[in-house]
Amino acid sequence: MAELPPRDMREWPEIEITPRAARRVAAGHLWIFADEVATEGPRDRPVFWCRFRGDGSSVGWGYMNRRSLIAGRLLARGQEEERLEALLERRLLQAIGRRLPLAPNRATRLVFSEADFLPGLVVDFYPPYAVLQSHTAGIDLVLSLLEALLPAALERAGGVRLAGLVIRADQPVRDLEAAERFRRVVFGDPQALRTAWVEEEGLRYAADLLEGQKTGFFLDQRENRLRFEEAVRQVPGARVLDLFSYSGGWGLRALRAGAARVVFVDESREALDLLERSLAANNLPRGRAVLCRADVLSFLARDAGRYEFVVSDPPAFAKSRKNLPQARRAYRKLNRLAWRRLEPGGILFASSCSRLVPENEFLAILAAACSRERDVAHVVYRGVQAPDHPVLLSMPETAYLKCIGLQKVLC
Ligand SMILES: C[S@@+](CC[C@H](N)C(=O)[O-])C[C@H]1O[C@@H](n2cnc3c(N)ncnc32)[C@H](O)[C@@H]1O
Repeated sequence: MAELPPRDMREWPEIEITPRAARRVAAGHLWIFADEVATEGPRDRPVFWCRFRGDGSSVGWGYMNRRSLIAGRLLARGQEEERLEALLERRLLQAIGRRLPLAPNRATRLVFSEADFLPGLVVDFYPPYAVLQSHTAGIDLVLSLLEALLPAALERAGGVRLAGLVIRADQPVRDLEAAERFRRVVFGDPQALRTAWVEEEGLRYAADLLEGQKTGFFLDQRENRLRFEEAVRQVPGARVLDLFSYSGGWGLRALRAGAARVVFVDESREALDLLERSLAANNLPRGRAVLCRADVLSFLARDAGRYEFVVSDPPAFAKSRKNLPQARRAYRKLNRLAWRRLEPGGILFASSCSRLVPENEFLAILAAACSRERDVAHVVYRGVQAPDHPVLLSMPETAYLKCIGLQKVLC
């Protein structure tokens, strides 16, 4: 078990940061980069909670990981100090407060990392369970506090009693922190957590909260899927291609909206198993669903189908600035191949969850993909991440999801 930082924040070590970093924090940014740290801090520990100082005065409170390029992350700015539990509890209550009222049947992201001033921490609520995800070694140090504070905060602020809590510290992003990966059930029946249901506007999605991807479901596309379902409903008997389907987030909505045929494509067997369970649980017409376990690009290279709707919701292609050129090429190729499958008048819902590719750049990539096919398109929809994934204006890094609806126009 990791050693907890001192509860009394006055005992925390002090770290001097450069004036440039101090100015950025004053403007609402919460990261300190490795080359902006002027003092080393405790020699015996690479990861520790600390007070940041700049130009001789207190800048704020947070944690440091000397092994990470993002060396410091802040939970609080300014002078005030308190006890660690009080700070964490206040942050959890504020984050939950932003999402109230919580409905017992609505899955919700309760904590979205920096945007909720809890950098490195994500909490998703899948009633009656919660998944607490740590992305950083700094958050790992306070997990024992968080796993006690979160159920109490949910009960106090949201009137919700959790039946299970999972800690997931298993994402590849932890490699940037030199943090080992692990998962742990804090309480609750592990089997029930592996066979949970996530409800989204009346549809039930099977979810494995322990071993499924991310925290078990992709909540960020909720509003975009809603608009997609509305669009499918306007086209009776539509044919739909759901690329990177996972557990069927988009395609199940298309079936509910009356699509004649939905082709789901994902390379993960576990994802398609979840999808099978969801089809049955929602009494959706199994005969209209085609499940393909395949690599999307290989599928698109051989598929001759024509569709009124194509959804493309891949994992983030741009993991770092270094691989941006490669990621841009991958988005262009994918969307060009997806676009080819559309009937005239059809709509491509193309997403990118790479925060390093801003919307204007993604639109330019899509424009290049269409023009290579000598087609023109209307932008009929522009969506972002769901509101329970708020964007902190002073930290553009918190905006990551783009979903663009492009209609194939004849001209
Ligand atoms: C962002 S998630 C999709 C979320 C999903 N559309 C939803 O709404 O829940 C990306 C999915 O792509 C799948 N995947 C990743 N690379 C793939 C590939 N090359 N071919 C097929 N599926 C892939 C993963 O298994 C994962 O399920």
